[in-house]
Amino acid sequence: MLKCIGVSKRFGGLQAVDNVDLSVKKNEIAGLVGPNGSGKSTLLNLISGVYKPDSGKILFLDEEISNYPSHRICSKGITKTSQSVQSFPDMTAVENVLTSLLFAKGNLGKTQSLAQAEDLLNFVGLDKTKYYQPAKNLNVVELRRVQLAKALGTKPKLLLLDELLTGLTPKESDQAIKLIRLINKQGITVLIVEHVMRVIMGLCDRVTVLHHGGKIFEGTPKEVANNERVIKIYLGKRYLLCDD
Ligand SMILES: Nc1ncnc2c1ncn2[C@@H]1O[C@H](COP(=O)(O)OP(=O)(O)OP(=O)(O)O)[C@@H](O)[C@H]1O
Ligand SMILES: [Mg+2]
Repeated sequence: MLKCIGVSKRFGGLQAVDNVDLSVKKNEIAGLVGPNGSGKSTLLNLISGVYKPDSGKILFLDEEISNYPSHRICSKGITKTSQSVQSFPDMTAVENVLTSLLFAKGNLGKTQSLAQAEDLLNFVGLDKTKYYQPAKNLNVVELRRVQLAKALGTKPKLLLLDELLTGLTPKESDQAIKLIRLINKQGITVLIVEHVMRVIMGLCDRVTVLHHGGKIFEGTPKEVANNERVIKIYLGKRYLLCDD
């Protein structure tokens, strides 16, 4: 579904993404991990059109999208949630979700679009008392739910999640894992960046590891958890004997 071929991005003297090949197959949940500053968010920003690659190509459903603007990439079916939570602070949670429903579908009837926005907020588990609160009154975990609902409102084929689960309690993150599985079962392919390895292990079919902008390993979660280089650079010893 998605192919990044030799993709690079430099910021001044810093090679943030260095000649990375990455592919995501239709219907899978793919993971992207690596130490802080290894280029994960930059790669997602390249795929979603926030940045343009200096070199290399990005193909989505066999069409080159490397130089498309973000809104066109989103219309093609790729939507990203941001690591730093973004919202329209003075608009309510429902209105925030309406923006993406309107983007995806153009003019909807008011009643129909409000119902769809509420359905999406219900699906992502936002407390009903928060639906008509301005986004600026919501906490970061609630905003992440709104952001996910907003992303789903664009009807993505490929959903890019950049540390969506950061800051959740273990119980909340278990619920989020179930939610992402459910989203995937509904036919949405997922590429997820996450530091919490329990999430990556529990969700992903395949994992790519970045270090200093370059790809250092790709494999199943089990292979990643048992690879000595990945353990040394990123995971630490506790994953050495992981067998499931
Ligand atoms: N817009 C930018 N301008 C300059 N440097 C940038 C920019 N965006 C990212 N960088 C730098 O590029 C490198 C890769 O950053 P990136 O945010 O992609 O890392 P990351 O793997 O997502 O890290 P983290 O796990 O901390 O989120 C870092 O050194 C970062 O400081
Ligand atoms: Mg990041």
